[in-house]
Amino acid sequence: MNAIKLDHPLVLHKLSILRDKNTGTKEFRELISELSTILCYEALKDASLEDIEIETPMCKTKGKKLNDDNYAFVPILRAGTGMLDGLIKVMPNAKIGHIGLYRNEETLKPVEYYYKMPKDIDKREVIVLDPMLATGGSGVDAITRLKESGAKKIKFLCIIAAPEGIEKINEVHPDVTIYCAAIDEKLNEIGYIVPGLGDAGDRIFGTK
Ligand code: PRP
Ligand code: URA
Repeated sequence: MNAIKLDHPLVLHKLSILRDKNTGTKEFRELISELSTILCYEALKDASLEDIEIETPMCKTKGKKLNDDNYAFVPILRAGTGMLDGLIKVMPNAKIGHIGLYRNEETLKPVEYYYKMPKDIDKREVIVLDPMLATGGSGVDAITRLKESGAKKIKFLCIIAAPEGIEKINEVHPDVTIYCAAIDEKLNEIGYIVPGLGDAGDRIFGTK
C-alpha cells in the first residue's frame, strides 16, 4: 500500500477534536491547518537539500537549504484550500495551482469546474491537498489532470482517508504516495467517510 499514516499522540489528540460535531468553524479551521503542517513535515522527509555556508554570532559553519521553488501546492476546491495556509507557513515560496472539483451527489463522480496551474508545473514536485479521500474519484481525476500537464512527481496529502480511496489511487496512480492523519473504517451508502468528520467543506466554510 503506497500510503503513510501519521502516528503521533498530538495528531490523535487534534483529530478527535476535529471529528467532534460540537467543534466550531474557527477551531475546525485551525486544526485542519495545524494537521496540514504536520503532514507537510512528513511529506518532505525526502526533500533534497543544498549545502550552504552560514555565519552564527560565534563562527562560520555549514548549513542546509531547502529550495521551496521546487514545489507546487495544489488544493482541490473547495475543502483543499483549508489546508493551504498550513503548508505556506513552512514553504512560503511554493507556487500554488487550483483544481475545482465537486462530487455529483447522485453518481459520486467528480465534476471539474476550474483548473489553473503554474506555467512550470512540469518542473515542480506537486503536493495535492484535500482533507477527505473518500471514493478516491476526486483524487484520481486531479492527479490524472496534473500528469496531463506534465507533473512527474506527485504526492497526495489528506486528513482522513477511507480504505476505498487509498485503494483507488494506489490502483490508478501507484507512483503517488498518500500521506494521511487517519485511515477510517469505511464509506457509508452516500459516500461519506465513517466515522469521518462530516462534510469538510461545509465545516471549514460554515456553509451548513
Ligand atoms: C469533498 C472532498 C473531496 C471529495 C472526496 O469535496 O473535499 O474533494 O469530496 O470525495 P471522493 O474521494 O469520493 O471524490 P466535495 O465534492 O464535497 O466539494 P467541496 O470541497 O466543494 O465541498
Ligand atoms: N467529502 C467530505 O467532505 N466528507 C466525506 O466524508 C466524504 C467526502
